Amino acid sequence: MASVIQKRLSLHKRAEDHHRENQALQSQLCRIQPLANIGSASCMIAHEINNILTPFGSYADLALKHFDDKALVRKALEKAVLNCQRATKVMESMLALANGDTQKKQTVGLAGLIDEVFTCLCRDFGKDRIQLRIDIPEDLKVHVVAVQIQQVLMNLSLNAREAMLERGGTLSLRAYNDADHTIIEVADTGSGIAPEAMKTIFEAFYSTKDSSESAEECFGTGLGLAFCRLIIDKHQGSITVKSKQGEGTTFKISLPQIPSEIAS
Ligand SMILES: Nc1ncnc2c1ncn2[C@@H]1O[C@H](COP(=O)(O)OP(=O)(O)O)[C@@H](O)[C@H]1O
Ligand SMILES: [Mg+2]
Repeated sequence: MASVIQKRLSLHKRAEDHHRENQALQSQLCRIQPLANIGSASCMIAHEINNILTPFGSYADLALKHFDDKALVRKALEKAVLNCQRATKVMESMLALANGDTQKKQTVGLAGLIDEVFTCLCRDFGKDRIQLRIDIPEDLKVHVVAVQIQQVLMNLSLNAREAMLERGGTLSLRAYNDADHTIIEVADTGSGIAPEAMKTIFEAFYSTKDSSESAEECFGTGLGLAFCRLIIDKHQGSITVKSKQGEGTTFKISLPQIPSEIAS
């Protein structure tokens, strides 16, 4: 009997020790977490700013080479202003994410938001033999942190473009309301994703793009999709993917519809 009591006491003590250790680890984690956030945020800021700077640089370069073409120089300057404003917004949004702040959501028209993404990309998709099909109802509104959802759509569109660079194709963006969610689909007819990679693509630093090949066209950090998932999770939504090798890929984002107290 005594030994049973002793065993119980010893078990009880061990459980208490574990509990204390657990609490110490948790508070350590709370102290380390902001540092880890800043670490991943700085990589992601670099990635997002790169998305904006690369095409902006190409435009400026073109304008310098054709300096007498007033219209072109003007367009490049307009793009420069627009992209600088966007870079500032992106920085603010990323730093807010790193601090654990959720920025204020706003009710915005999805079509306008997507329009801005393609203006900022400064890419002529036609030159890469990519046809752009955008099918977003003009009256479709979403309740989101606009700049963050724009970053997600920018990342998905750039991935789609890169998957079609070899032989061209079609990039389609469409959106609709389905029950209590708004669905946004970004589909391409590019290379597709190997079945064994489907589970890994959302992991940070997973990339099949060889950075040694070509700095601009094939540069891969493997941060784009990890970032997309982070943002969509923050919006209490989901992001899924369907793909067939050689045929194309469709990313599907599902976001909660505008809460009724805001919609009315
Ligand atoms: N639309 C797509 N078509 C084919 N593969 C894709 C597509 N989107 C993502 N991938 C795959 O997922 C990987 C991870 O994407 P991402 O996180 O954006 O990183 P990165 O673009 O820097 O490689 C890519 O390297 C690619 O292999
Ligand atoms: Mg990418």
